[in-house]
Amino acid sequence: MPQRQRYLFVCVNRRPDGTPKGSCAQRSAVEIHAALKDGLKDRGLAKTEVRACTSSCLDVCWAGPVIAVEPDGYFYGRVTLEDVPELLESLANGTRVERLVLPSNDFDEKTAAPPLPAPKSKPAEGQEP
Ligand code: FES
Repeated sequence: MPQRQRYLFVCVNRRPDGTPKGSCAQRSAVEIHAALKDGLKDRGLAKTEVRACTSSCLDVCWAGPVIAVEPDGYFYGRVTLEDVPELLESLANGTRVERLVLPSNDFDEKTAAPPLPAPKSKPAEGQEP
């Protein structure tokens, strides 16, 4: 396999439900990673241009789901599944989605913008919501 132009490290860390810090996996990071991987493959970028990898905690949990883009050296934050088509388009064009790039203040929880709302937990099978 050739070295890709870019590597996306999608944090898929999961903390137990109810943990105040939350985690990227609780905000659909696993699904985001899968959608990026599928989209890159469909566009023919996966084997030569961009590889979507999973990562453990990148230490900016309040801005999750987060994706570290290397070797470019920036992070996307508060990514949703709805953002994936725009991210794929930008990766195909060699650009970035500026509205999702984390500014320096987002790397400190005290100065960061608000997190995405925590998703409602799904009821267990057979339980009423
Ligand atoms: S859980 Fe994703 S950055 Fe910490």
